[in-house]
Amino acid sequence: MPPTLQDLKTLAYGAGRILRAGFNQPQEVHHKSEIDVVTETDHRSESYLLEQIRGRFQDDHIVAEESGENDGDRARAWFIDPLDGTTNFSHGLPVFSVSIGYAQDGEILLGVVYDPVRDELFSAERGRGAFLNDQPIQAAARAQLRESLVATGFPYDRFTSPVNNLVYFHEFALQVQGIRRLGSAALDLCYVAAGRFDAYWEFKMHSWDLAAGVLIAQEAGALVTTMDGFPEVLTPPYSVAAANPRLHEELLAVIAGVTARPENQAYQAFLAG
Ligand code: IPD
Ligand code: CA
Ligand code: CA
Repeated sequence: MPPTLQDLKTLAYGAGRILRAGFNQPQEVHHKSEIDVVTETDHRSESYLLEQIRGRFQDDHIVAEESGENDGDRARAWFIDPLDGTTNFSHGLPVFSVSIGYAQDGEILLGVVYDPVRDELFSAERGRGAFLNDQPIQAAARAQLRESLVATGFPYDRFTSPVNNLVYFHEFALQVQGIRRLGSAALDLCYVAAGRFDAYWEFKMHSWDLAAGVLIAQEAGALVTTMDGFPEVLTPPYSVAAANPRLHEELLAVIAGVTARPENQAYQAFLAG
């Protein structure tokens, strides 16, 4: 039996309890790189999710941030970020989530993102709309960047890579009503779904950051593409531009204008894969 949306919700609430219990508690923090950290709570949440999924869906494939690929039948695949927003979490900033997506034959069918601090559960099943705590949600309708609140994020390799998002950030900061860096890509996408953000762009994320949130944003009526306008956001090189369909056009036009500048060849190469 494939999982139901209710199965994903139950898993997200379980992981959310673990995140809440670990928040603001002393714990070991390991550095994956100078600025990319992982806490005991990331591992605890992931172990819980893997154990639950393996117990009930033994043959499924699981892609999880801290343990990588857990081999199974790739036609039935889970994408797990046990704690999205670890930097916030490790600083006591209450903005983080757990993200769980489920795909069949490469297509995401179910997605749940849970913010345990606000007790906000975002969910979607393909073709059935998007919900926040079981109330339907919709992307905002604003059609102009000038009146929009937009979100983005910066990659962990930004000290060493010239492809660090600062050129797009600079341009958008001069064109939008407001710009935010929340620190949880999964919540960024859900906030687009809920109309809290009008648009979101980012790159160099991973499938576990995106799988659930992309479906939730799409089911809420947002258009989600790569930053160069292609629909395949869940394959490398990961990049996302999400907004309601009218605003999306302007979002992509601004991105394209920045990318095309001769000094931004490294960005052109990155987006071309
Ligand atoms: C990160 C967050 C952040 C985004 C990074 C992600 P993590 O996930 O979603 O907002 O900018 O690209 O890697 O490391 O907190 O799970
Ligand atoms: Ca993440
Ligand atoms: Ca994570």
